[in-house]
Amino acid sequence: MTTPLTSRFPYAKGPDGSRRLGYGADYNPEQWTREVWEEDVRLMREAGVNVVSLAIFSWARLQPTADTWDFGWLDEVMDLLHAGGIGVDLATATASPPPWLTTAHPEILPVTASGETVWPGARQHWRPTSPVFRAHALRLVREMATRYAGHPALVAWHVNNELGCHNIHDYSDDAARAFRAWLRARYTTLDGLNHAWGTAFWSQRYSDWEQLLPPRLAASHPNPTQQLDFKRFSSHALKEYLCAERDVLREITPDVPVTTNFMVMGGTKGMDYADWAGSGAVDFVANDHYVVPGPQDRDELSFSANLTSALADHRPWFLMEHSTSAVNWQPVNLAKRPGDLARDSLLHVAHGADAVCFFQWRQSAAGAEKYHSAMVPHAGPDSEVFRAAAGLGRTLSVLAPVAGTVREPARVAVLFDWESWWASEQDSHPTSLLDYRQEALDWYSALLAVGVRADIITTRTGLETYDVVIAPVLHMVPATLAKDLTRYAEGGGHLVTTYFSGVVDENDHIWLGGHPGALRELLGIRVEEFGPLLGDDSADLDNSTTGTVWTDRITVTEPDVRVLARYRTGAYAGRPAVTRRTTGSGSATYVSTRLGRAGLASLLPELLTAAGVESELPEAARGRVELAVRRSADARFLFLVNRTDAPVPLPGVRGEVLTGDVGTEGELVLPPREIAVLRRPLTT
Ligand code: GAL
Repeated sequence: MTTPLTSRFPYAKGPDGSRRLGYGADYNPEQWTREVWEEDVRLMREAGVNVVSLAIFSWARLQPTADTWDFGWLDEVMDLLHAGGIGVDLATATASPPPWLTTAHPEILPVTASGETVWPGARQHWRPTSPVFRAHALRLVREMATRYAGHPALVAWHVNNELGCHNIHDYSDDAARAFRAWLRARYTTLDGLNHAWGTAFWSQRYSDWEQLLPPRLAASHPNPTQQLDFKRFSSHALKEYLCAERDVLREITPDVPVTTNFMVMGGTKGMDYADWAGSGAVDFVANDHYVVPGPQDRDELSFSANLTSALADHRPWFLMEHSTSAVNWQPVNLAKRPGDLARDSLLHVAHGADAVCFFQWRQSAAGAEKYHSAMVPHAGPDSEVFRAAAGLGRTLSVLAPVAGTVREPARVAVLFDWESWWASEQDSHPTSLLDYRQEALDWYSALLAVGVRADIITTRTGLETYDVVIAPVLHMVPATLAKDLTRYAEGGGHLVTTYFSGVVDENDHIWLGGHPGALRELLGIRVEEFGPLLGDDSADLDNSTTGTVWTDRITVTEPDVRVLARYRTGAYAGRPAVTRRTTGSGSATYVSTRLGRAGLASLLPELLTAAGVESELPEAARGRVELAVRRSADARFLFLVNRTDAPVPLPGVRGEVLTGDVGTEGELVLPPREIAVLRRPLTT
């Protein structure tokens, strides 16, 4: 894959000039007095902090009125940090427009699908497409860049903050205008648009571009392609805004790399980060991740970090935010258990993060996030959290040799695609119970359960290096993607796909002639009718697994298809449930129901064995330990993560122990929830 991502990573440097892993937090000194700033820098040094993100929510302080600026305090903080040897990832401060701006220009406020104004009072209350907002924001960006160009503390620019966290879908008149322009560029003619949107249906034919609107609150289901295009447009509009800030920064400080913090985590789905990163919107990828406690919480962390690595083209990326302990925005905000602070951070490093930062440095005394954890909690530095944070600082400094290494590709990949995520979960579908990301995560959990390392990849990643590519619910398959997948399987790759895949093209039109249209020939099967299941319904298979959510009425159409499992119960009892077609030296497998992580874990060995893929872990550690590998020119770095609450022996695993309390004599044993990092020269 070629990507314009320049990956100019802002490495911290050790005393000898060598690269160090970055460590720090969002720093919000505007919430504190000057005496506290001095203590902050002292404690940062104690904790091993070498980079902070600064001024993210400082607009109102930096520009108190339309015509006045107050940079003195920020100058002082920048100088203090620099004197303390701490680099600054400086925010452009545009994330939360000040009250004077929204009062003078209420037309910058976003509007919901039902026409309600999103009022100020929280943050990110701005329309991505507002020319007025953009003019004010870019003026601030220019001021910031001009003032701090050449400041020795400045190591990177942090555009805005979590773009799209609260304002991804704006239905205002500004958005409508920009949406029309985007549609004109995409379709050129109204005939093209009418065809793509299928407007022969429900008398929706457009005869003038001005008639086009965002999918605002409608009497029934709005046109599906209109909805899909609005999702594409909304992601594009924010990317375009990001690029507008970036271009000002590049003009004034061409040598300072620019990033923004993505939110590859959980159900955050509005921003197509494969597009953002792949089209070079940032100089290096940065991500925020928060654990939502649950049975797959650490698998989800690993999945997100792994996907972030794919966005970064497997080069190092920056973990911009995660939490030392509880957050404030979940229904119940659990404190992390001892050890989790370090384990969570190092799991990101295992998947390619070369900097690990928290939200935030010092826990706020006021405001909506006063119960959100930080590196320095309300209790002060004499606390377990601060001691754990300082301990992590020491570990990261020991792991300096890992900085700048890349992730070693796995043999198995799980394909994750924003377009299929958006399209598969639209309304007026066979079921509203389908959860795209959960299906992908379940496959990943199943791979972890059988101890097989896998990469999460996007449709921009080349497939050829993988022995097995699993493409769950790959719903939207344009002709070119169908060709790539067919070439992959015919060239010896083993493709696995699932229910509701290959059903529509890029316009969300059905591939006719039977499902899964775009992949029907490759899979050698034909589905005449979908069989979604009610929430509490299930169908047993004859391989001792159970399907939920979905079933398919499958007819095998090619002689070289083997039925790997049949339905034993339900409407399709006796019919195929899992099929595999051999294609030259490769194969194409179809799983027609949701098996869940346990069911998938029992199916996977058969699929992996066919591809000659085995676990790299000793038998005793499979499923209990996650393995991730980074490599330099002369060494491999094995990250071994105990996924359980019990010690796990690692018979036969050797290497120089860089970190991890695994013992040194004889067989290594990984304590509960511990991460160990081993270095092995490449020659052995
Ligand atoms: C992020 C945000 C931070 C902080 C954090 C709390 O969404 O970027 O500013 O709000 O969440 O978890």
